[in-house]
Amino acid sequence: MTDIVAVYGSPRRKGNTATLLRRSVQGARDEGAEVEEVILRDLNMSPCLEIYACKKTGRCAIQDDFQGLYDRFLACRGVMLASPMFFYTVSAHTKIMMDRCQSLWVKRYWVEKKPFGSPDAGRKGLFISVGATRGKRLFDGSLLTVRYFFDALDMVLWRSLLYRGLDFQGDVDGCPEYLDEAYQSGRDLAREIQRTD
Ligand SMILES: Cc1cc2nc3c(=O)[nH]c(=O)nc-3n(C[C@H](O)[C@H](O)[C@H](O)COP(=O)(O)O)c2cc1C
Repeated sequence: MTDIVAVYGSPRRKGNTATLLRRSVQGARDEGAEVEEVILRDLNMSPCLEIYACKKTGRCAIQDDFQGLYDRFLACRGVMLASPMFFYTVSAHTKIMMDRCQSLWVKRYWVEKKPFGSPDAGRKGLFISVGATRGKRLFDGSLLTVRYFFDALDMVLWRSLLYRGLDFQGDVDGCPEYLDEAYQSGRDLAREIQRTD
């Protein structure tokens, strides 16, 4: 079974967030975790259409590539999510996926009637993001979004790696300390989810 799902949310295949996430994936694999990589731009995924068929079973009714991701999110123990900052929030590819996870929110809170909050502390999310600018509040909006995205997945936002001043493809290659931190975070996440088995 897949331990960790790694979600690439940038439209750039070799962009800064993709490079960082690949390092985290390598770290987790070196620690023995089974990691499945998902590249959002390769998936055929509609935005949420708010038909709320998920109210009956907790499953989204739209038949596209989200269906497979839904099953992976339910089965795994950890998620790594990487998205660049686009207009002070996550990329459109990432947000479309997040909105489809409203079905998981509905499953958890309306179908299974779990109490609000208190996600499973053994299930953990790692968020990786970069932005071109250096403002203090660059990641503020996205952190709230990501925190509640992980909550819908019954996961805690365990760690965020947020890097400013990276714009052009390849910029992160000049920051070995960021790449090391991403690698180490992958190792740490793999250890954390094993420890709570
Ligand atoms: C549509 C778009 C919106 C962006 N909005 C922001 C922004 O609000 N703040 C910022 O600091 N950088 C912004 N950027 C710059 C990206 O965050 C930056 O280029 C980043 O390194 C891209 O990451 P990637 O290589 O993983 O795709 C934007 C870039 C694009 C294409």
